[in-house]
Amino acid sequence: KRSVRDLEVRGRRVLVRADFNVPLEGGRITDDTRIRAALPTVRYLLEQGAAVILCSHLGRPKGKVVEELRLAPVARRLEELLGRPVRALTEVVGPEVERRLADLEPGQVALLENLRFHPGETANDPAFAEALARLAEVYVNDAFGAAHRAHASVVGVAERLPAAAGFLLERELEVLGSLLEKPRRPFWAVLGGAKVSDKIGVIQRLLEICDGLAIGGAMANTLLVARGFAVGRSLYEPEQVEPARRWLEAAGDRLLLPADLVVTERLEPGASSRVVPVDRIPAEAMAVDVGPATLAAWQERLGAAGTVFWNGPLGVFEVEPFHRGTFALAEFLAGLDAVTVVGGGDSVAAVRRTGVADRIDHISTGGGASLEFLEGKELPGVAVLPDAPAATGGAGM
Ligand code: 3PG
Repeated sequence: KRSVRDLEVRGRRVLVRADFNVPLEGGRITDDTRIRAALPTVRYLLEQGAAVILCSHLGRPKGKVVEELRLAPVARRLEELLGRPVRALTEVVGPEVERRLADLEPGQVALLENLRFHPGETANDPAFAEALARLAEVYVNDAFGAAHRAHASVVGVAERLPAAAGFLLERELEVLGSLLEKPRRPFWAVLGGAKVSDKIGVIQRLLEICDGLAIGGAMANTLLVARGFAVGRSLYEPEQVEPARRWLEAAGDRLLLPADLVVTERLEPGASSRVVPVDRIPAEAMAVDVGPATLAAWQERLGAAGTVFWNGPLGVFEVEPFHRGTFALAEFLAGLDAVTVVGGGDSVAAVRRTGVADRIDHISTGGGASLEFLEGKELPGVAVLPDAPAATGGAGM
């Protein structure tokens, strides 16, 4: 794909789509990974003498203004990280935005308000895409985490301005692409999270391309039921049991499920819990984490892996002490002599909270986007970008 390096940006206004969809608690950003990840592209553009107009979505405000989802905290964090002022706008598009951007000079940075305050964003409404495109002369997509969304700021604008990929998007595609093309083998994947139904496509695909796949989290409960176990009051998806039965058989011993589980009767911090083998889950209990025998068995199989991709927590990791399995996996991966790639907000948070982030080879900023990419789906935000080098010779292309 055409790179930001291939664009003529000096003295121009560049609209940069970033993914600043960061976790907030009471207006405070609890993890700024996604903001930091966009800095190389922003800094490069500023050094090249561009005026940078950043834009992003935050949460799912469904086309309306939601005060708690304003991007002001992101603008302040950006100012700290860049060491220069960021002009934070309180609207997404329109005459007032155009007026406030009119005197934005090369080397200056502005941030539009949350794109999803406007209904045209998720609808990829042509009029909204046009209004965004009017704000700049060039477009750079660095929002890997949103590249699977065919939204106006991801697709519509790229169709209307000379467009290219930013450094973050390039790096994500390179690392995840290498997993599909030439992974160091054995190649293992570990999936967790709540629903099989969300990940059925990626499970099937990973079973084709990986040497092994381990599944934990509530997803595993559905598969345990398909294997004939009773899971008590554990969360599972009854309608997925029959279909799972069919592909579980074909997967054979390349698919690892938990051998034991931590169960509790009450899902609360500090609630009493115990470890039981999967064939002895009490009727009144629910599974909330993988047990030590599971971790030991998985570590033995994954110990010789050349590559491991991990997405999704192995238990209800936000409620202590049910974080243990997820955290133990993060620490185990950090110690492996393998290419390790972690994607998805919860797994990335676990990696950070265990303090092992610098020993993971690649922390993807994409959750859904990384899974769709590995599944082999074309990401609309990538598909729309022109190939490099530029085939057509429009101004500045
Ligand atoms: C993410 O957090 O995965 C991306 O920012 C996309 O957000 P979305 O799932 O609300 O489109």
